[in-house]
Amino acid sequence: RRHLIDTDGLSLEEMESLFCRAAYWRDHPEAWFQTGKGRFAANWFLEPSTRTRVSFEVAEKRLGMETIPLDGETSSTMKGESFYDTLRTLAAVGVEVVVVRHAGIGTLAEMAWENPGVSLVNAGEGNGGHPTQALLDLFTMREQFGTLKGLTVSIIGDIRHSRVARSNYWALKTFGARVILAGPESMRDPSLEEYAPYLPVDEAIRQADVVMMLRVQLERHRETLFSSPDVYLHAYGLTPERVEAMRSHAVILHPAPVNRGVEIASELVEHKRSKIFEQMSNGVWIRMAVLERALEGGRG
Ligand code: CP
Repeated sequence: RRHLIDTDGLSLEEMESLFCRAAYWRDHPEAWFQTGKGRFAANWFLEPSTRTRVSFEVAEKRLGMETIPLDGETSSTMKGESFYDTLRTLAAVGVEVVVVRHAGIGTLAEMAWENPGVSLVNAGEGNGGHPTQALLDLFTMREQFGTLKGLTVSIIGDIRHSRVARSNYWALKTFGARVILAGPESMRDPSLEEYAPYLPVDEAIRQADVVMMLRVQLERHRETLFSSPDVYLHAYGLTPERVEAMRSHAVILHPAPVNRGVEIASELVEHKRSKIFEQMSNGVWIRMAVLERALEGGRG
């Protein structure tokens, strides 16, 4: 089985190979609709998603795979069927790859160890990891700068709740990129600061080749954080003034969905330095590469 649980389980060579295959799928539409013919993927989404869910579905279809959507409300999860039994059931009916988004942490690694008979792909697990997001982020940076080694990437905002920050941190570390973290004190995560210094937002923006803004995950904060979105934007968000302070070649990334006017001024989402929509397009190529790898795990 070829699971994708998180980027800390991928070598530099494996990630390079995924980037090569992603570029191949982008550049060779004549090769689409063949590799996965007659093979099944289930997209099991127990938390909301637009980009990841739809781009996995497009990727599966472009590989020629059959796609089965599965959610929490209409599946037997509602009757108490366990994670493991659901995966075993999907394997028993002929599904080979299960793409999972859910709120728990560590369940996918545990399931992979229990070997339920399918290849598992993490599509976002609580605030634990979101490896395909990190891979598409690194692919976007690599397309822009040609290399990841030595690149300075500033990850700014709600680090504590961010599975995107975590998966990017591990992948960037593997490539020898320099990672800087920034944001409000209440959103810090000391477990990520071994490799990355925590700097004031303005300093993090000034030094970066890549300014990666994170969504303030309002749904994961119990307390009201700021008196108004404007207060957050001016203290920690990307404003036109802060874009002026960026290095001349630096670019803006954001995993989206975006809280316009909170972590980023609305007009900057489509700014000429923004790669936000390019990230989404790249997500399809990366997910084709990840699914292809999962299918290489074989049947049965
Ligand atoms: N970036 C991301 O994971 O977006 P969705 O939650 O819409 O899938």
